Amino acid sequence: MSYSNASIADLVQPTKLHRNLYVDPQVFDLEMQRIWGNAWIYIGHDSQVPQPGDYITLNYGKMPVVMVRDRAGAVHVLHNRCGHKGAKLVDKPCGKVNAFRCCYHGWTYKLDGTLAGVPHMTGYEGTGFDKSDPQYSMQKLTSASHRGFVFATLNANPPALRDWMGGAGDVLDNLCDRSPEGEVEAAGGVLRYEHECNWKLFLENLNDTMHPMVVHQSVVDAALDYIKTLPEDSPRRDEAEIIPPFGASYEAFEATGITGFKYGHHYDGGKTSIHADYSVDPDYERAMLDAYGPERTREILTFNTHNTLFYPSLTIKSAVQNIRVVRPIAVDKTIIETWSFRLKGAPESMLRRTLLYSRLINSNGSMVGPDDLTAYFRVQQGLQSSASDWVEMHRNYGADQDLGDRLTNTGTSDLDMRTQYAAWKHYMTEAA
Ligand code: FES
Ligand SMILES: [Fe+2]
Repeated sequence: MSYSNASIADLVQPTKLHRNLYVDPQVFDLEMQRIWGNAWIYIGHDSQVPQPGDYITLNYGKMPVVMVRDRAGAVHVLHNRCGHKGAKLVDKPCGKVNAFRCCYHGWTYKLDGTLAGVPHMTGYEGTGFDKSDPQYSMQKLTSASHRGFVFATLNANPPALRDWMGGAGDVLDNLCDRSPEGEVEAAGGVLRYEHECNWKLFLENLNDTMHPMVVHQSVVDAALDYIKTLPEDSPRRDEAEIIPPFGASYEAFEATGITGFKYGHHYDGGKTSIHADYSVDPDYERAMLDAYGPERTREILTFNTHNTLFYPSLTIKSAVQNIRVVRPIAVDKTIIETWSFRLKGAPESMLRRTLLYSRLINSNGSMVGPDDLTAYFRVQQGLQSSASDWVEMHRNYGADQDLGDRLTNTGTSDLDMRTQYAAWKHYMTEAA
């Protein structure tokens, strides 16, 4: 079957979602064209390309792109495609070059993508080929950055990046403000895993606060048993602070609240979250007080969100300084990357905790992430069943509070799902 705008819109109902959203390759192809063709998509942090010639490569939807810093210091996001016969120009995940040189016939490109050289130029006279015609250069995507976080879009007329972020952008600002210098940099490498599930299942899980006490119960119980065996005078263990909150009660998660914004962004927490009770390193607190004074320091450190989504490609945990990035591959295959950040001007203990958190929660050898992954995979398998075409999202339907620029509801509501799918419908129909 092929989809009209009306039949695509019908897949998303106020309280239910059609299973084709997760299992139909045609829907996936349309998502790559229309959502990845219109939204701002997260590319990377500019600290990943600190010097001229530094680059990273990635997939933007189905298309290969490269982020590179040029000699003047500007960062570009370029289609990773040769202007000659179309070969992918750069193959490594990251590296450093003086110029890009195609592996096939040796065309070369400057760091801003401009075609620089074509070997053996004879044979082109009178053919209409003009080396200076921009169509033969590496093509640029429209890109913009906010506090070093670089996004790109294929939308010819996109909203300004910070406007598009709306209130969710406050969380990205908070991540950076947690540095005494107001800046972060990527550190500690990347955790990159393939998930055998649709990309949306990961996003739906972020603020799904009805699952932790079920899915993560066994690891929380094991962690609590272990903590009981520690001697009284044992030094504080970060593990003991990080894992148990994943077993928090329904009531505790209700109290966090969920806030949703235009374009599908949302977060849970704000006043409180499962990160709220982490202890503060006294050296870090001192550095923050010196930089910001007591009132602003308190304001920064008590803005406690758990997961924030910048729909559809970036999720962040500002309180623990890591992000997870969504790179869809196929209808049932998704790459999730976890990147950690150093708070500039903060003691190294902060980065150590960030990396520990990632290993404990996000890595494939961790105790929490693989539980979630099993749930996504089970959903992906279960939705192959024709027993029903629908999955439900009724929780607290009709009770979202409209505060003008945002909607809020209790932390266990399906407000996050409603927020995402309103944006899904917008990109898939109105913006098409
Ligand atoms: S395809 Fe790149 S130089 Fe020919
Ligand atoms: Fe989880």
